[in-house]
Amino acid sequence: MTKGNVAVAHQWRGVIREYADRLPVDDATQIVSLGEGGTPLVRAAALSDLVQGEVFVKVEGMNPTGSFKDRGMTMAITAAVESGAKAVVCASTGNTSASAAAYATQAGLTCAVLVPAGKIAMGKLSQAIAHGAELIQVDGNFDGCLDVARKLAENYPVFLVNSVNPARIEGQKTGAFEVVDTLGDAPDFHLLPVGNAGNITAYWKGYREYAEAWSNPRHGEDAAQLAPVATRTPQMWGFQAAGSAPIVAGHPITEPETVATAIRIGNPASWEKAEEAREESGGVIDSVTDEEILAAHRWLSSREGVFVEPASAAGVAGLLKKQAAGEVPTGKTFVITVTGHGLKDPEWALKNADGSDVAPTKVPQDVETVARQLGL
Ligand code: F0G
Repeated sequence: MTKGNVAVAHQWRGVIREYADRLPVDDATQIVSLGEGGTPLVRAAALSDLVQGEVFVKVEGMNPTGSFKDRGMTMAITAAVESGAKAVVCASTGNTSASAAAYATQAGLTCAVLVPAGKIAMGKLSQAIAHGAELIQVDGNFDGCLDVARKLAENYPVFLVNSVNPARIEGQKTGAFEVVDTLGDAPDFHLLPVGNAGNITAYWKGYREYAEAWSNPRHGEDAAQLAPVATRTPQMWGFQAAGSAPIVAGHPITEPETVATAIRIGNPASWEKAEEAREESGGVIDSVTDEEILAAHRWLSSREGVFVEPASAAGVAGLLKKQAAGEVPTGKTFVITVTGHGLKDPEWALKNADGSDVAPTKVPQDVETVARQLGL
């Protein structure tokens, strides 16, 4: 962009304004946005070397509330305002509640969040409280919270902003648009964590729409006149935590467990859509152990310079697992969504690989001692 003859930076306007022609909005829509999206697609050099291909991580921790949920929440809260709602509700393992609370605050709506007691990372809990949400800790897991949230929305005047709300999926599909807009085409493989399965559903929708001559009914173009943006779609590779892997097991898990609390989910709402994404894309849904997740978490922070929360490393853990099994072809392009910021749940960085606490070095206030300690 230029002003006079001076180049000025383009200010990203949030996903609804950037992709208005591909979302169910029109000129009259009152947009609620905190400037989400436009997140970095960072080349992961060590992972690229390992698989002898091109690996990029889509760093969703750079969104306003520190996770990919903001892409969907700008749409969901915008839809809530459009419907005349005064209050919204969600069930959450933490990030959805942080996002809903922030966007509801901007829109002037009351926000109620239902979270599993004692299973939410401190950073996420503090966000919901900071934004003034009505925080209800439920004695149960995420699946139970979602059940209550759905019944609440059916029977009381509150608007549900979980990803069972199609507006959420619409917003989140913009992650796929950004990947294609940045790379020039779809990657060969897209990897990501799977919890409630909204995000794999959304990415697959986004990739499909960019590969089709697609038009938004609300904007009335003739699809036949439009050219596809991408020439292909990627294989979708989703990864659940081994202790919470219902899709892999083929049945709901009643007591899901994993250190990756964000994806501690035993009965995903978008289960069938995730299976559709896997089938239609020729991909896989597999599981990774907590050890594999924490090793990938450490790989990202110590080798790529990207700090994520544990659940966010599941896609990287999946690539490492598949690579070790000899199932990763060389010369391909991989995009891995790393879904949330490391500062949400920083305690894992302060543990050694064997689970012991990292012990910081303490020295007196003396240059020579510090130099000796640093081996200088
Ligand atoms: N990664 C993070 C950091 C998450 O917070 C979630 C989901 C996922 C991955 C999985 O995405 O559910 O679309 O398959 N968190 C939800 C929440 C459940 O309540 O914040 P999904």
